[in-house]
Amino acid sequence: MSAVAASLLDQPEVRFPLDLSVRIPKIRELYRSAIKNQWDPQTAIEWDQLDLRPFTQKQLEAARLYWSRRAWGEYGAISESPALQIRFCQERHPPDMRFFFTIRTQEESRHAEVCYLMAEKLGGYVKEPVQSAYQGSVSTHGVRKMALDPAITLEAIVASLVCAAEEIAFDVFDHLIKITKNPIANKIQRLVMRDEVRHCAFGWAYMERRAPEMSKKELAVVEEAVVTMIEKVELNGYHSAWLAPDSPASRAEVEADRLTYEAGLGATTEELEKPVFVASVKRIRKQMEPWGFTLKPFFHPKLGTI
Ligand SMILES: [Fe+2]
Ligand SMILES: [Fe+2]
Repeated sequence: MSAVAASLLDQPEVRFPLDLSVRIPKIRELYRSAIKNQWDPQTAIEWDQLDLRPFTQKQLEAARLYWSRRAWGEYGAISESPALQIRFCQERHPPDMRFFFTIRTQEESRHAEVCYLMAEKLGGYVKEPVQSAYQGSVSTHGVRKMALDPAITLEAIVASLVCAAEEIAFDVFDHLIKITKNPIANKIQRLVMRDEVRHCAFGWAYMERRAPEMSKKELAVVEEAVVTMIEKVELNGYHSAWLAPDSPASRAEVEADRLTYEAGLGATTEELEKPVFVASVKRIRKQMEPWGFTLKPFFHPKLGTI
């Protein structure tokens, strides 16, 4: 008898018969739309029109840090997306998902590159967080490891990573488009958002297909994963520094965000983001109800109970 596989990579690959037909039409549609909507970070932005003269040195320093941090976040997706792709292939999930994710990974690369380029233009990309203790909460939510762990269901991963975390990020992007005054910074936000809308739709389309086929027990696992993502990752400041536990590092980030926002170069503030975050969690709860559960109330000292 063979030992239980520790990782998906320890299991043999069974490729044939190779089915490439349409199994989830909505996801196949997202794939088609993704290949039609490609853009190049080098040429899609009018980089030479970025005028830095109106900004103070302090604002530029802050904005450069903000865009570097955005690049780190997008990089997280570059490293996690292929792990999910391996999972889709190894477990032979619908071909539409495998097709879509090749492009999704490419899109995350684009996002990381465009944020990197912006940081470079603003004075130089910053390679790592000032305080490495803070790295844990800004660089990963552990999806790569989860994706290769056969004990964690794919539904739990997609629901927590996409329908919760990516959805919250999406609402923030939408908010940033409305408040970012600098035309170059605004265009970057809009281009990233154009891709993210598909990334989110993928998660909901997959769960819409899977939820009715799942048992109560399996759905409870999904629910728990979403709760963990919101409670331990989002409410811990993964996307928004003001939600992170108070520390010199989180305070420095909040301050950099404020300066960046005031310069119109991206970022938002606690005051402006609060209602966006609350609305986001409420909408996610509602949108998950047809799956068969209602997410519990969440508490954060700065938000009260959502
Ligand atoms: Fe992205
Ligand atoms: Fe994404």
